[in-house]
Order: sequence, then structure tokens, then C-alpha cells
Amino acid sequence: MNTLPFVDFKTPHSPRAYVNSVVRFHHEFTEKERLEAAIKAGWNVFQFPSEMLRGGDLLSDSGTTTLTAEQTAAMFLGDEAYGSNYGYFEFLKAFETTFGIPSRDSEVYIFHQGRAAEHALFTQIGKMGIGMKIPSNGHFDTTRANIENNGIEAIDLYCKELNDPRYAPFKGNMDVEALEYLLAKDASRVPMVYMTITNNTGGGQPVSMENIRAVRKICSKYDKPFFLDACRFAENAWFIKNREEGYERKEISAIVKEVFSYCDGFTISLKKDGLANMGGALLIKKQTSFAKKFPEIFNALRDHQILTEGHPTYGGLTGRDIVTIVEGLKTVVTQQYLDSRIGQVFEFGRYLKELDIPVVSPFGGHAIYIDMDAFFDGTGHKRSDYGGVAMTALLLLKGVRLCELGAFAFGDNHPHNFVRCAIPRNKYEIQDLYYVADCVKAMHSQRREIPRAVPVFGRDLTLRHFKARFELEEIK
Ligand code: F0G
Repeated sequence: MNTLPFVDFKTPHSPRAYVNSVVRFHHEFTEKERLEAAIKAGWNVFQFPSEMLRGGDLLSDSGTTTLTAEQTAAMFLGDEAYGSNYGYFEFLKAFETTFGIPSRDSEVYIFHQGRAAEHALFTQIGKMGIGMKIPSNGHFDTTRANIENNGIEAIDLYCKELNDPRYAPFKGNMDVEALEYLLAKDASRVPMVYMTITNNTGGGQPVSMENIRAVRKICSKYDKPFFLDACRFAENAWFIKNREEGYERKEISAIVKEVFSYCDGFTISLKKDGLANMGGALLIKKQTSFAKKFPEIFNALRDHQILTEGHPTYGGLTGRDIVTIVEGLKTVVTQQYLDSRIGQVFEFGRYLKELDIPVVSPFGGHAIYIDMDAFFDGTGHKRSDYGGVAMTALLLLKGVRLCELGAFAFGDNHPHNFVRCAIPRNKYEIQDLYYVADCVKAMHSQRREIPRAVPVFGRDLTLRHFKARFELEEIK
């Protein structure tokens, strides 16, 4: 029976998918104390003490997950042996179960986080030649930096729909025509093709199975390895299930396995869809043409891992970290978790939209992006005034932390000028997010008064958004 006998319950609200088993109370700070701290931090949100925030630390969804009771319990069983700890074998099994790639057919390298895996991979790829290019649907900033650091050009092939305000279900896709064009012209310079799921730099937008399949086909045609940056693979699978024809009835875990059947390998930050506070990995399949052409890469990567991280069976992680990942991978592919997770992000986005904040839509899976060009439209603010930096700086005074990923982080000519609100997993209640949105609304109402952010240190440094210091100056 679908309905209860006697009464028909139609409730406007539904309960969360979980209850809190551990909570942390905020310390009280005054706005003056926050102002002093913000000035001391050079108005750089990364340098602002997190304990002064009040429920809205949306700087990153990375490593900020609240652990489940199962993960916390597993930590007690974490095995801190130097070699071949118990969790390592469970980790290999969890990779096999989650991604559908048998351990015997792959080499798995554990790293302390995603960028360490990228660093290892691109250091080896960088040795394969000069003048190389790696195309992607959108390189994340550390991926780009690791590629460029090895003398390789990082190319973003965003799909055309991304900058079109009309609805499209998979704005994270790669422009396959542009990929085909690049390979037809310059295949010898392309050592691999990369695909970020979901596309963090492109507004957290998902990639369709159709696009993944099309990229695989082109890679096979030109005999190029196809690698995934798989940080948010479970969220991406949720979008495929909900938006792509033919996948409505498929289990999330089956969709995940299909996605990973198309790649030659992947890097992953387990701080996202590993539901862990630390961890990363690189997996390379062994039965591929890439692996056969470059068999020496496996040993070189092991050496890199041992030199920089530790023994291959722990790779820069504690035994406790490893078992939290094993548990996290079980939870992350459940429908209940993903509905709750993405449902919360969408409700936050819906409310921001209701408040007339120009947000990128459709919404991404892990974050809501505010379009700062639209936000300041008609005010006389120029991109080079770094209004996104100034807005996020001022929000610190209300205990809210967002992140500028636009004109300042990526340069005045970047195709996007966003402020990102990244939602940590299982951490906040919707009430916290309503408060963030209310604060953003207050800024929007007074957008003409928002000052310019003048970089007084770090303007010309690489990855400058992490390091720069600013002064806020009134725009006359
Ligand atoms: N790739 C993507 C798509 C990412 O979003 C990140 C991290 C990384 C790689 C690097 O992983 O942090 O474990 O070294 N993104 C975080 C963010 C930092 O806030 O979006 P990491």
C-alpha cells in the first residue's frame, strides 16, 4: 500500500537523511573582532581564522565533510602499521567495488590529496616530450598548475552551452568538435585527454555519459589515453541518473561503473566524493594501449610516491584516514545520501534565486556560483576592481566565507567571473545556508557601495588568490 490508512500526510517539509551525532558550538565574536582579524589577514578569505565564522564556511567542499558514525567508528580500527596496514587491502577492495575496475587490472597509488596525485602523474607525462598540450572540459586550478609546471599547455574546451543562459542539462561537457579539431591538427603533441567530473571550474556542472562516450571514441581513434579527474564522480552520476535518457532506472553504482569503464585511468581527491577529510589517489589501468606503450611509468610513479609520500600501502595517509575513505565510498554512492546532498545545494540555490541573486543555473552539484559580472551590472564596477574579492572580504564580518573564483583568481580575461559558495557535505543545516543567502542579499542591495579590492601584495604571483593581500578602497 502506498498511502497510510486513515490519514493522508502531505507535509511541506521533509526530514534530513541523517541526525547529528557530534556537534560543535560556535564561539561568540564581535564584528569589531572580525574586522581586526580581516585586516590582519589582508582581507584574504583563506587567511581568516575559521573559528570566527558562524555556520557559513563555504570556502570549499574539500575535506570539510562531517564524518558519518560508521567512519568515526572505523577510525578506531585504523591500522597504523608502516607496511601493508589492514585498511590498505580494504581500500583496494573499495576501489574495485566502487569503480568496477579489478585490482589485478590496475595500479592504484595512494596520495595525501588530489594534487599530489596530479603532481606525480604530470611529472611523468612531462618527461614524454616538449611542446605538449593537455585538453580538458575544464582544468581545475591545481591540475592546470601541475600541468603547466611541467612545461605542458593546459587547454580548456568548455562546451558552447556553458555560456549560454538557456537551460542545458550537462553544461560541464567537453566541446567534442574542438577536441576532434585539436587532435586532427596536433595529435602528436597531445599526450592525454582529461575530463573533470563534475566540471568544477565550469560552474560545477555535470558531464553526460554521452559526452564521456564521445570523448572516449575520439581518444580511441587517435590512440590517446583518456583520464578522468574524478573528484565528484558520485554527484556526476546522480545528474546522469536524473537527466539523461536511459539512466533513470539505473543504480548510481552501475552508472559510476559505466563511466569508469571508458577511461584509461583517473586522479581523484578523496576529500570530495571519498567523504573523507584527507586523501587522494591515482589509478592506471594496465591492459590499455597507453600502459603498453609506456610500461616504465608504473615503476617511475611508485618511486615518486615513495620519495614524496611514503610506502605505497599508505601513501601519505594515516591508517585512520584510509578506513574513513573505505566507509565514505560506501555511503557516497547511495541514493539517500546523494538526494540529500544535492537537494540541499539546490534548495540553497533556489533561495538565492528567489532573492534575485544572479546565480549560475542550472545549479551544480557541490556549489552555487554567483555571476559577479551580472551582480555588478550597471554599477560602474569593472572586473579589475575585483568586486568579487571585496564582496567575499566584507562577508567575513558577518561570519560568512565564500570564495572568489573569477577575475582575480584566474585573471581579468577569464571566461567566468564567479564567486563560489561550495557546500561542505553533511555539515550544515539549511538554516545556515539561508543565513548565508540573506547576507549575500544584503551585499547585493548595497552593491554600489561595495569598494574595490586593491591587491597590495601578490598580484603577480602564481596561484595568487591563495597568497595575495588587499586593501579595500571606495569607488568614486
Ligand atoms: N580536481 C578538482 C576538480 C578539484 O576540485 C580539486 C580540489 C582538485 C582536483 C585537487 O584536489 O584539493 O585534494 O588536492 N578542489 C578543492 C576546491 C580545493 O575547493 O574546489 P586536492
